Amino acid sequence: MDAALTPGPSAAGGTGENCAPAKIVVRNLVKVFGNRPAVALQMLEQGLHKDEIFRCTGQIVGVQDASFEIRSGEIFVIMGLSGSGKSTLIRLLNRLLEPTSGEVLVDGQNVASMDRRQLIDLRRRDMSMVFQSFALMPHRTVLDNAAFGLEVAGIDKAQREKRALQVLEQVGLTAFARKHPSELSGGMQQRVGLARALAVDPSLMLMDEAFSALDPLKRHEMQHVLLDLQRDHKRTIVFVSHDLDEAFRIGDRIAIMEGGSVVQVGDPHEIARNPATDYVRAFFRGVDLTRHLTVGDIARTDQVPIFPVPSNIPDEFGAAIEHLRSIKRHYGFLVDPAHRLIGVVSIDSLLRCLGQSRPDLAGALLDHVPALAGASPFREVLGQVARNPHPFPVIDGKGIYMGAVTQTILLEHLCDEETRNA
Ligand SMILES: Nc1ncnc2c1ncn2[C@@H]1O[C@H](COP(=O)(O)OP(=O)(O)O)[C@@H](O)[C@H]1O
Ligand SMILES: [Mg+2]
Repeated sequence: MDAALTPGPSAAGGTGENCAPAKIVVRNLVKVFGNRPAVALQMLEQGLHKDEIFRCTGQIVGVQDASFEIRSGEIFVIMGLSGSGKSTLIRLLNRLLEPTSGEVLVDGQNVASMDRRQLIDLRRRDMSMVFQSFALMPHRTVLDNAAFGLEVAGIDKAQREKRALQVLEQVGLTAFARKHPSELSGGMQQRVGLARALAVDPSLMLMDEAFSALDPLKRHEMQHVLLDLQRDHKRTIVFVSHDLDEAFRIGDRIAIMEGGSVVQVGDPHEIARNPATDYVRAFFRGVDLTRHLTVGDIARTDQVPIFPVPSNIPDEFGAAIEHLRSIKRHYGFLVDPAHRLIGVVSIDSLLRCLGQSRPDLAGALLDHVPALAGASPFREVLGQVARNPHPFPVIDGKGIYMGAVTQTILLEHLCDEETRNA
């Protein structure tokens, strides 16, 4: 398989920094449905197409030579058209389906080599699955449904009810604990499904089209519930979806499947900008990417130089002015040793500061250039950036400098979007 399409841990996702360790490693995974999988495997190795294999042997190739890694703490979305192998792939991860060949490692442990006991243990304690159909037990209360996984795991009643109430609160269903599923709307029932999965406090959640049966409004709401939960408690979540909007909203990285193969893995914006195949390109056409972009997504660190807070103002500001002139830039940003943004300076403001009888830092900072929050939607700042010639510094929630947004960057993104959808 082409290495460029299934990047390894160092290449995947692009940035290289904060690469969490792999939670799941999938290597050359194949699933053949039928009674003669060995024949199909051999034909796959000879490079025959799955349609041909089906025609000749009746064997169905569900997943074909999939290799990728899922990082600890990320939401990894598996996308593709119906029948592309998403459900098969996610079920291979916890061995609800037996692989025909290839490997799945979870926390370094080969799932294929686990015996029944270990497997049941893993599924009960560390890996929850949420399906599209809520699969709630109609005669049990919401509380008992939420506590089901704990009951199976042999946790005593008082303890499991306490925990179930906790997770019901997390999904906003405390008031419904004593009701039965039929008294709840579809969206609420899916929350119970989610609570049930969360109750065992798994480090890994597998969600197969979990929100697909919900209307758009409810789906949106559940995506928020999931993201909120994820903020408080980082789990690794594998999420199958056919909804691109959903993938953008919740996915840290996505894998695109076509005809049983994983054809591309990466950051959603990265994939949209550099689709590996026509199939992937077609998948993203017509989607307005700027809808999903945040200011942090487009901020760049190569546009505006940064300077440390000076200990010797005349010398260091003098050098800064020279540097700005030499690279033909007018603005710079000051950051402290922890990389927190202190403020914005320009050649003029530095000169003005140096002209004071007692130059001080405050005298050099431009107070009319606000920092933008990296998490803000790109669209919210369009007008502000378009109307101002100066670059805007972008900071994260802790005030750490992330990069700059300039009119040029803005225009580049809008132009890219035009060409991509042309
Ligand atoms: N139990 C099964 N027996 C035979 N074929 C199956 C089985 N499960 C799935 N398939 C086939 O495998 C392919 C992938 O299916 P699936 O993983 O359900 O796709 P998706 O979830 O992307 O819609 C399809 O061609 C489907 O018909
Ligand atoms: Mg499916």
